Amino acid sequence: MNFQRLTILAIESSCDETSASVCRDGKILSNIIAGQAVHEQYGGVVPELASRAHLQHIVPVVDVALRTANCQLQTVDCIAFTQAPGLIGSLLVGAQFAKSLALSLNKPLVAVHHMQAHVLANLIPEEKPSFPFLCLTVSGGHTQIVVCESPVKLSVIGETIDDAAGEAFDKTAKLLGLPYPGGPLIDKYAATGNPKRFSFPEPRIPGLDFSFSGLKTSILYFLKNAGESNVFKEEFAADAATQKQFITDNLPDICASVQNRIISILLNKLKKAVRETGITQVCLAGGVSANSGLRKAFMDLGAVEHWKTFIPAFEYCTDNAAMIAITAYYKYLAGDFAELSVSPSARANPETPTP
Ligand code: KG4
Ligand code: ZN
Repeated sequence: MNFQRLTILAIESSCDETSASVCRDGKILSNIIAGQAVHEQYGGVVPELASRAHLQHIVPVVDVALRTANCQLQTVDCIAFTQAPGLIGSLLVGAQFAKSLALSLNKPLVAVHHMQAHVLANLIPEEKPSFPFLCLTVSGGHTQIVVCESPVKLSVIGETIDDAAGEAFDKTAKLLGLPYPGGPLIDKYAATGNPKRFSFPEPRIPGLDFSFSGLKTSILYFLKNAGESNVFKEEFAADAATQKQFITDNLPDICASVQNRIISILLNKLKKAVRETGITQVCLAGGVSANSGLRKAFMDLGAVEHWKTFIPAFEYCTDNAAMIAITAYYKYLAGDFAELSVSPSARANPETPTP
């Protein structure tokens, strides 16, 4: 029997998480993630600081990933890294590190698309969706509905025309005076709030595309008007102290109501996508799929609609290298390798040069 074990070391550094993972024959053996608290005080990721933190974290993170997997660097068969999209300075750190390892070990290199990896995080568990499946990918930079025909054949059938769902969470949190990233905090406060207390509009966007910028504007006016209205009305404009007090008095209900609207925008489009494609194997992916309200609403909807539903484990929802490793595994099997001259790209389409 010709049985060879395939061990992949994968690196993810597209935004503000430095992560490394070891995967053997499609099974994740380690997934180490170092976050960057430095951005909290700035209300968003500062690219320059993110690149510097990646440089500090990458060696220890790779080291711990190998040790956790009980794996020697010399026994690794393939090096994988996130090529695009992301912050270019952050991507460059991971790409250069991966290329140097591949060169020094004389092993093949696999370049992975971050959004494909979020989708394929659903192939990590034993119980996997069958093909074709639909995936609603909701992250800080993207919101997409994807048809996945095979691990290496994906097509986007709907996406946001402005903000991503994660941005809607983070920008709402910023308006509420909460630190970055605000998504997990809104999730936390929403758990004790009344989702029906305040009403925010659902945008009317044709087809399977999404829009979240109108929601952000309505929340801005809602807070400026201390909850009296969510459109601009001079007579309701409240002073700063009144606005602050309104937020303090109603934080859980505001968070629950905003979260409820974001979830309904997402799931209404997903329902439409299932109707249009006839595909009933349905997955969730991306950082926002860590949201407890979305996870529950998605599972409930799937049960009502008779879908087979899948959500990655929490550690594979937000940015992580395990999803890069599993994607690299399938790309390796498909013979899709990168040259050592490969460059990362900030854009979702790596063919387009980064400005
Ligand atoms: O996938 P991800 O880690 O990074 C990108 O590729 O963008 O997603 C990060 C996004 C952030 O906007 C963050 O606020 C959001 O995911 N997020 C959440 C939760 N956990 C992370 N949003 C809502 N509820 C959560 N529990
Ligand atoms: Zn991501």
